[in-house]
Amino acid sequence: MPRDELLDPGAVPELDLDPQIEEAKLRPRSLEEFVGQRELKERLGIILEAARGRQQASDHLLFAGPPGLGKTTLAGIVANELAAHLHITSGPAIERAGDLASILTKLDDGDVLFIDEIHRLPRVVEEVLYPAMEDLQLDVMLGKGPAARSIRFDLEPFTLVGATTRTGLITGPLRDRFGFAFRLDYYEAEDLERIVTRAAGLFGIEIDADGAAEIATRSRGTPRIANRLLRRVRDYAEVRGDGRIDHATAVDGLAKFGIDERGLDKVDRILLSNLCERFGGGPVGLSTMAISVGEPTETVEEVIEPFLIQQGLLLRTPRGRVATRAAWQHLGLAAPADSSSAPEVTTLFE
Ligand SMILES: Nc1ncnc2c1ncn2[C@@H]1O[C@H](COP(=O)(O)OP(=O)(O)OP(=O)(O)O)[C@@H](O)[C@H]1O
Ligand SMILES: [Mg+2]
Repeated sequence: MPRDELLDPGAVPELDLDPQIEEAKLRPRSLEEFVGQRELKERLGIILEAARGRQQASDHLLFAGPPGLGKTTLAGIVANELAAHLHITSGPAIERAGDLASILTKLDDGDVLFIDEIHRLPRVVEEVLYPAMEDLQLDVMLGKGPAARSIRFDLEPFTLVGATTRTGLITGPLRDRFGFAFRLDYYEAEDLERIVTRAAGLFGIEIDADGAAEIATRSRGTPRIANRLLRRVRDYAEVRGDGRIDHATAVDGLAKFGIDERGLDKVDRILLSNLCERFGGGPVGLSTMAISVGEPTETVEEVIEPFLIQQGLLLRTPRGRVATRAAWQHLGLAAPADSSSAPEVTTLFE
């Protein structure tokens, strides 16, 4: 069973071009427009303003966090705020040291280089990146065997912006070369509400505060999902209503697309109900869970679970995954009396 694309923060529609163009329209261009993440905005604002004041490239910056929270958006904002050119590439696209060398030598003074999925840079490439980040030096090996020689280039000062969904996979030496590492967290409902209202404004959709709030609470703390749910509710409102979105339209529209009050979709609910009904609430290993919903283990671990954990519905324990008491309740099932097999969760964070 394929994961419902609607709630997959990583899914980018391939055939449907329109939403992508709309998506581009939605991307905030300045820190001012970027909603939420108050602490991050303040710190980033200080770093960028200082760099602007000194008329220098800023320190290298790393953005880490789950898909759809705004890492790519922030890379664009960094370049905008520095009035710098933005060059975009990604870890898997840079296969050899030579690929990186040709990117780096094209950078002009003050340019911003964005490397998405930087945790997927091959190790040999990463090693070329270190001296470039630190000393603006590029060492390239020419030829092979005994005839090989290394030449050194001086690079123009540049700002590297890295993004990763997996901080844990970034090597220590790479992480240490960033001037600051920002961690993006899931958004609060009120920030998502502002994001939905802002997007509705840009799309010319009429929506009231209750409608926006309803979409916000079902968006898994993720702006990309908030924007996508808004578009589906808009479709619903246009086809079944008068195009305006109020609370009732949002509730009906979201229900039509299988998204429940907490933003869980079919796959989330199947995962939890398998865990509760087939495995007595756990503990169950990751691979068993993945097989039970027919998803790759990485998707379960990186996309499905973090949200369920953050919602206090699932726990990762050394012995495996465990459904919390709230999960049983959410599914309308009677939890086992023994509290160790259906623990309460007091903290919402991992
Ligand atoms: N703080 C924000 N305020 C308003 N809109 C936002 C914000 N953050 C993200 N968005 C919207 O969410 C969409 C997804 O954000 P973005 O592409 O930057 O996520 P990402 O972290 O790079 O995701 P991925 O890990 O999948 O690459 C953007 O197109 C933008 O419209
Ligand atoms: Mg991105």
